[in-house]
Amino acid sequence: MKVLVTGGAGYIGSVVTDRLLAEGHTVEVLDNLTTGHQDSVLSGATWHQGEITEAGEILDSSFDAVIHLAAKSLVGESVTHPERYWHGNIVATLGLIDAMRSAGVRRMVFSSTAAVYGEPGVGQITEDTPAMPTNPYGASKLAIDHMLTAEAAAHGMAAVSLRYFNVAGASGSLRERHDPETHLIPNLLKVALGDAGEAKIFGTDYPTRDGTAIRDYIHVVDLADAHLRALKAAEPGNHAVYNLGTGTGTTVREVITAVREVTGIDIPAVEHPRRPGDPAVLVASGQRALQELGWAPQRSITDMVADAWAALR
Ligand code: UFG
Repeated sequence: MKVLVTGGAGYIGSVVTDRLLAEGHTVEVLDNLTTGHQDSVLSGATWHQGEITEAGEILDSSFDAVIHLAAKSLVGESVTHPERYWHGNIVATLGLIDAMRSAGVRRMVFSSTAAVYGEPGVGQITEDTPAMPTNPYGASKLAIDHMLTAEAAAHGMAAVSLRYFNVAGASGSLRERHDPETHLIPNLLKVALGDAGEAKIFGTDYPTRDGTAIRDYIHVVDLADAHLRALKAAEPGNHAVYNLGTGTGTTVREVITAVREVTGIDIPAVEHPRRPGDPAVLVASGQRALQELGWAPQRSITDMVADAWAALR
């Protein structure tokens, strides 16, 4: 297939591009480099620096599909500057869908988020769990999901949305590079590298097995694999939604233990109060993805830490 990958210079997009090229697809990447890195774009892909709204200048009937990953994705920023999320995610994606319709490109895989569910407080989040986002980031992604449902019904688009939480690990040298870095695993590895003095544990009084928050971590290579499976499975006139999860989840303390084991470094960790807005447990069921896409996560939390550590060094 010939595929346009928006956000293909980002952490997840660069790994998706890598896998597409490895499977023999033709790939063009569109990224504005606000959070991506041009050196993450593999030489086998055609490179376009620009906004999502410029996709219409690239797309034509020779394309088979778009994998749409470009997005604003910081929960905190979405609360303080919601307008950036309405424009950057909702309005920009509407323009992309219009451009696809004009060009006759009728297949999209959308990298959504499990943040559309908000904080349901159930054991495992399924696709039937009511979507009630608790911040503009989740709301903007949910609005796009609604657009895709309507586009599929009205104009025959083949669309798939993938909803997932915490992505970790690396693919070779392709790794997470955020500034500022807020995510748990890269922050722990900074301590291991000696770039930060001590790790912070945000909240030790959650109702969980060791008092720290539980998250559903997915290896970026498993996530890229899900995007490729979704690309093939998308059916005209249908918008399918899949949660990508392990169904179990890992506590902050368990992640710290994994980092200590992988690096062999005794990471000093200081207990802090809860981080505002953090739910206790976020775990998704991957059952539908298993049944319909044949997808299941293959890589463990130890694999994620080991691959991220190898990429850093
Ligand atoms: N944490 C720490 N110390 C740190 C960093 C994080 O204890 O230095 C804790 C957090 O409080 C949380 C867990 O580790 O309990 C994971 O935190 P991350 O910041 O790594 O990830 P989040 O779960 O906050 O964020 C993820 C995705 C977002 C998504 C969000 C939805 O990265 O894109 O879930 O709630 F929007």
